[in-house]
Amino acid sequence: MRSATIKELLSGEGLLQEVTINGWVRTFRSNRFIALNDGSTINNIQCVVEFENFDENLLKKINTGAALKITGTLVESQGRGQSVEIQINDIFVHGTADPEEYPIQPKKHSLEFLREKAHLRVRTNTFSAVMRVRSALSFAIHNYFRENGFYYFHAPIITGSDAEGAGEMFRVTTLDDKNPPLTDDGEVDYKEDFFGKETNLTVSGQLEAEAYAMGLGKVYTFGPTFRAENSNTSRHLAEFWMIEPEMAFFDLDANMDLAEDFIKSVISYVLKNCGDDLEFLEKRLLDEEKMKPQAERSEMALIEKLRFITDNSFKRVTYTEAIDILRNSKPNKKKKFQYPIDEWGADLQSEHERFLVEKHFKCPVILFDYPAKIKAFYMRLNEDGKTVRAMDILFPGIGEIVGGSQREERLDVLKEKMDALNIPEEELWWYLDLRKFGTAAHSGFGLGFERLVLFATGMGNIRDVIPFPRTPQNAEF
Ligand code: 4AD
Ligand code: MG
Repeated sequence: MRSATIKELLSGEGLLQEVTINGWVRTFRSNRFIALNDGSTINNIQCVVEFENFDENLLKKINTGAALKITGTLVESQGRGQSVEIQINDIFVHGTADPEEYPIQPKKHSLEFLREKAHLRVRTNTFSAVMRVRSALSFAIHNYFRENGFYYFHAPIITGSDAEGAGEMFRVTTLDDKNPPLTDDGEVDYKEDFFGKETNLTVSGQLEAEAYAMGLGKVYTFGPTFRAENSNTSRHLAEFWMIEPEMAFFDLDANMDLAEDFIKSVISYVLKNCGDDLEFLEKRLLDEEKMKPQAERSEMALIEKLRFITDNSFKRVTYTEAIDILRNSKPNKKKKFQYPIDEWGADLQSEHERFLVEKHFKCPVILFDYPAKIKAFYMRLNEDGKTVRAMDILFPGIGEIVGGSQREERLDVLKEKMDALNIPEEELWWYLDLRKFGTAAHSGFGLGFERLVLFATGMGNIRDVIPFPRTPQNAEF
């Protein structure tokens, strides 16, 4: 007999029939009620044991965490809280879980504790809900692009270039670390390395995506991205997943329209398809917020917050307007910002972004036309000669969720920019070729997948929305 999933059974399939399910024990009460979960849904199914029919030694093995195969009759439930339950005929114990040792007991564990048990935490309601939402979001993302004429493009993971120019890269090498070959100047000789040059894990697939957009029209990447920034924050990972669409013949306005429509669409998908998990996560968040002082509690519950995103326009504001708002803001005048704003040209910190989104506009904000000096080399220079066609999308509780731009398509302007930043032309000759042969306006953006999952689940720390987080000093598992 095919075994069913709990999701299928709870939807009423197989009523009054003999069914078989496999799953893990969440609780076993009064030697009679087993709450079993198999990951297919946040909900457990109640399985009723007539203990007279079972050997005591078998019943002793049914502890929280044990893996069971249960066969029985699916009947309407007598008890409250569930529609159906299983009257057990047979139990097979796949594997036991010694209660003295198994760390995931039926009580509240802190997220910090569970981070140390990252291999087991998916067996809790919170993490299974987060991971199902994460999976649904990935599907929604691929689906959105497919329906909108994009091709899925695989950017290389190992690269020789630093797309963002921030120099925060993980080196990839096969050289002998104790005795590397040296050049005459005593430097490590990467000509002897595996690729004959210095290589790193990619910080962004954008440059390669640009090449493919200039032939396929609209492409997107969705893959792992690596940054060796030593920022131990609740918003940064050293290994994260990024979605990077790149579109030929798109200017910045079309790019912003796409980004907004895309985010709204994938959040709508989750609202439609992850109801049970969102309800659970919303309750979890409300409980957590009860511990916080009133002023720090969010004004909206999770589902309302997600609806707010899908139903309202994002506010579009230039960097210059934003600086004016910030300069004249209360926290700036009262010196409450850690980084006070006085000059045009200042880079925005997360405290400024969050002020704009959470206090001033109270909605998602797209900031655009940033000073050239604080943005990457590839962004298109505006007529004013000092700003570039950059855009960042800022979200409540998250800060920057998207970074994108219209790209500099003019060969001479791009060369000048690279020259000013000491980026050698030999390194990016192929990228310059794209401006030599059939160049055209094109644009794209990068969405940090985990920041999106953070927002959609209401979790507070990015380490809790990726299965096995990689952060400074942490690559266990
Ligand atoms: O703003 P970023 O650096 O932009 C790029 O990499 C461009 N090449 C994208 C493009 O135009 N194709 O990064 C894009 C997004 C950020 O807005 C943020 O959401 C996320 O990636 N991100 C991180 N997420 C988690 N941990 C980190 N260390 C991140 N760094 C960036
Ligand atoms: Mg950015």
